[in-house]
Amino acid sequence: MDHDKIAVIDFGGQYAHLIATKVRRQGVLAEIRQPEDPIEAYAGYRGIIVSGSPSLASQGEDSDYTKGVYDLDLPMLGLCFGHQEIAKHYGGQVIHGGRQWGKSNLHLTGEHDLFHGLGPVEQVWMSHYDSVSEVGPEFRELGYSTTTDGGEGHRFAAIGSDSLKRYGFQFHAEVDDTLNGDRMLANFVFRICGCTASWTMEGYIEEQAEALRVHVGDESVFLLVSGGVDSTVAAVLIGRALGPGRLHLLHIDNGLMRKDESRKVLGLFSDLGLDEHLHFVDGSDVFLGALEGAIEPEQKRRIIGDTFIDVFQAEARRLDIESHLLGQGTIYPDPIETGGTKRADTIKTHHNRVPIIEQMIAEGKVVEPLAELYKTEVRELGEWLGIPRDVVWRHPFPGPGLGVRLLCNDGQADRSGFETIEPEVAKVGSTFGLGALVLPIRSVGVKADLRAYEHPVMLSGEAPWERLVGATSVLTADVPGINRCIWNLGPAAPQSARPLPATVTRNRLDTLREADHIVMEALRRHDLYDEIWQCPTVLVPLDLDASGGELVVVRPVHSQRAMTAQPVELPAALLDELREGILALPGVTSLALDLTSKPPGTIEWE
Ligand code: XMP
Repeated sequence: MDHDKIAVIDFGGQYAHLIATKVRRQGVLAEIRQPEDPIEAYAGYRGIIVSGSPSLASQGEDSDYTKGVYDLDLPMLGLCFGHQEIAKHYGGQVIHGGRQWGKSNLHLTGEHDLFHGLGPVEQVWMSHYDSVSEVGPEFRELGYSTTTDGGEGHRFAAIGSDSLKRYGFQFHAEVDDTLNGDRMLANFVFRICGCTASWTMEGYIEEQAEALRVHVGDESVFLLVSGGVDSTVAAVLIGRALGPGRLHLLHIDNGLMRKDESRKVLGLFSDLGLDEHLHFVDGSDVFLGALEGAIEPEQKRRIIGDTFIDVFQAEARRLDIESHLLGQGTIYPDPIETGGTKRADTIKTHHNRVPIIEQMIAEGKVVEPLAELYKTEVRELGEWLGIPRDVVWRHPFPGPGLGVRLLCNDGQADRSGFETIEPEVAKVGSTFGLGALVLPIRSVGVKADLRAYEHPVMLSGEAPWERLVGATSVLTADVPGINRCIWNLGPAAPQSARPLPATVTRNRLDTLREADHIVMEALRRHDLYDEIWQCPTVLVPLDLDASGGELVVVRPVHSQRAMTAQPVELPAALLDELREGILALPGVTSLALDLTSKPPGTIEWE
């Protein structure tokens, strides 16, 4: 069935994805388009939404996009940067000024379809440095803003031209703090673009099942299952469409899984009735052999990815199922994030888009039934398909598994820049009444959209949560070379830190697995598992105060889509349980909690 659909032009990853998700919630398909896509790419859409961006429209930043979109006879709605670009294109002015941040009131200047069903004053959410100071001759002001306490705001908070069918909101209609933002987007989609809602999960399942049957014909599908929600949902959907007899599942234990994970994965697929062709390979020796001596994070990732392909191909040959189609649980944002566009927020290659897979895709040998869905939609689909709740709502787990949480080191302290960093860090620490030790290692972070390896700081001392995160914000924002802070959970404030030589070994992995298990169980006991997006546990080869063992860092975060994240305060009783369990593990002598937001720190440490 052909669905009415909307194109969302992506000037800044997370804004565009949020808009697309909100439009889909209305039952209308929304797809992401890149600003440089050719004009032909817009065939079949009923309207266009232009996203916000970190770029400044007033400075002409990011202005090199396909301007032909303005010639299309399709309604357009711009949000923030998109609003400013539309205003500019039709003869308006955008100035660098009028910065607003947070909630504002939008006052409508009259009735308009875009605001159908809404009141004369609406709470909206602003986040901008630039503003529209003048509109072109065909435009009019549909709304202006004031601060929430009635103070002066800005003109042209909403603009429109009904003859051109071009509209703009300075505010972000896609965020929840714009209380009726969903309604405004729905008004654009239904009243202005004339879309009909036809996109439902039930319909999606039927359509995908039919498409799979046509694509696969009489052949079979071979699917790798990690136990994560995406591959599990893909397996159940394919099994439903083709029957379990034509679905081969392979689970590879790469030695970097959580405690008991492989056993649980095999049990799950038996319970789901998909064990007719359920294959298992214990590849842990091969993986650990290949990783021997590796220290650099990117080198480890590459080895894990390459070994995975080798093990998978060898197994496919052994099972004589090489000719089968390859099933993948690729979800919508994956190829976009790997796309290497200049705005891509995530700078990593997804394993389902490595060259050998690209080649198979080109040959039509890959089926990806979730390729149009976002994570939340995959979970909804999982529930529809009757997959157990604890699988559907499992925390995301990276492809390279514990490999990216087991830090390695050559034993050399990395103290570059410490002469200037240390005094500054100590000064900030004392302002907040906290001990602050710069650690002679690095972890990854994102600053100005780029991944950068910088030093963490360990804060020590009893302090309310606000003070700890306050100190973290100041240290990561004001001291160059610092991108992360952790809070010491051990008894004494550490005075020295020395990296230990460490590589990927089974022993260290077992220690990390135990620590991770202790954390997961504690979160479940305290009913926090579902509330938290993800909680990596990291083993850091760092000896504090010559205690002789390694440091474990626990990193609980709240997040929506992993593009941004906030640290989570854990209850004191839970921290006590972690101290008791983790500090008793052999080889572990220190414990800390990560206090860093993303940005500037990423969720994982490498
Ligand atoms: P970061 O660390 O970039 O992580 O804030 C964002 C999300 O991506 C996951 N992640 C990965 N997933 N392969 C994956 O499949 C990887 O190499 C990888 N690195 C990070 C991370 O767990 C979080 O959910």
